[in-house]
Amino acid sequence: MQAGDTRLGAYWMPFTANRDFKRAPRVIREARGHHYVADDGRQIYDLVAGLWTSGLGHCHPHIVAAIKDQLDVLDYAMAFQMGHEKAFVLAEQLVGLAPDGFTHCFFTNSGSEAVDSALKIALGYHRARGEAGRTRLIGRERGYHGVNFGGLSVGGMSPNRNAFSACLIPGVDHLRATGDLDHTAFSRGQPEWGAHLADDLQRIAALHDASNIAAVIVEPVAGSTGVLPPPVGYLERLREICDRHGILLIFDEVITAFGRLGKPFAADYFGVTPDIITTAKGLTNGVIPMGAVLVRDHVHAAFMQGPAHLIELFHGYTYSGHPVAAAAGIATLEVYRQEGTFEAAAELAQSFEDLLHSFVGHPLVIDVRNQGLMGAIELASRADTPGARGLEAHKRCFWEEDLVIRNGADTLMFSPFLNSSAGDWEIAFDGVRRVLDTLE
Ligand SMILES: Cc1ncc(COP(=O)(O)O)c(C=O)c1O
Repeated sequence: MQAGDTRLGAYWMPFTANRDFKRAPRVIREARGHHYVADDGRQIYDLVAGLWTSGLGHCHPHIVAAIKDQLDVLDYAMAFQMGHEKAFVLAEQLVGLAPDGFTHCFFTNSGSEAVDSALKIALGYHRARGEAGRTRLIGRERGYHGVNFGGLSVGGMSPNRNAFSACLIPGVDHLRATGDLDHTAFSRGQPEWGAHLADDLQRIAALHDASNIAAVIVEPVAGSTGVLPPPVGYLERLREICDRHGILLIFDEVITAFGRLGKPFAADYFGVTPDIITTAKGLTNGVIPMGAVLVRDHVHAAFMQGPAHLIELFHGYTYSGHPVAAAAGIATLEVYRQEGTFEAAAELAQSFEDLLHSFVGHPLVIDVRNQGLMGAIELASRADTPGARGLEAHKRCFWEEDLVIRNGADTLMFSPFLNSSAGDWEIAFDGVRRVLDTLE
């Protein structure tokens, strides 16, 4: 599809500069393994693995076959007051994969829905235990928890919130962001500076009285804001303060779960166990929309009281645990196990870090950050047009270097395939470098 194609008109694209895009559309026709095929036939190497989604590569044959098989048997079954086997099997496998103590799984269709479900579960948990006054929710500046009103309210990415400011849910506070270029720039992995920022939670608890606070939600590694690894000791301190005050800790692992850090969950990687984990993306390798909220036993148990014929949680989606998504999820977990994906990703992390940090010293680069197979290169913004340089880098990578990279304003983000080879990355990052070398 080219500029002027009348079919381009109707589609209002998400998180996209629509008018700019439609002047020179970047359209994908096919995908296989680590490459897209663009509309014009070019093979495009994908350095973002979809949108942090497709760690196993595109169109993985085992997952594709599972979906096709499922469609021959059961397309849909009513999700309320009825069930089908694959949803139960997937839930059991997910809690089996989760850190010790996680016993139940609630299905959604996206990360945003997983976050809003988790927030509701946190509120319901306290109410069920007789602490209905615990309603305040704590998020973090620069956090991204999707685009529904709950996630938007606890999220901290200003452009996403601005237009909806008056409608965000009340009773929300934010911890400060953990990234601070003066103290953390060019850290390899977790910055040494910043554990004290977790004490914001203590300060907020003192301000409101902890008995009013339901939960705090953070991404263990903030992703969409441009990859901010947690300072050494930060997550541990959050856990400690939550324990002290009876506040639930929610890890939003929509990006970090399923091997992005070389472990099943970031909770395993950092050795800090939250009460609730939200996931999506890698749950089905991005093939079919699905999200999940995983909860520890005490959270679930709090709801299981009262007459058994009554609904315990008045919440759910028509497509919760959809058969085709569940089949994709089961197949994806099988591939992770059979191919040793998480271990392979862990082994690649050092090469990825080294490649990213080879950009240190480049005249346009003001920070490089990484954790596991999440990475970011932050470019200095042009004085008059913040964000323009990053978008131009993304576009030129696509047109000139046959590469997909992601930009969030002037930060370039990378989340390569978990089953990559460092050799492929060297070639890809040479392309990124050629673009940066000639970028104004
Ligand atoms: C940490 C986190 N939470 C929630 C979401 C929202 O997920 P979705 O776009 O599937 O609604 C994202 C998406 O990138 C995310 O990174």
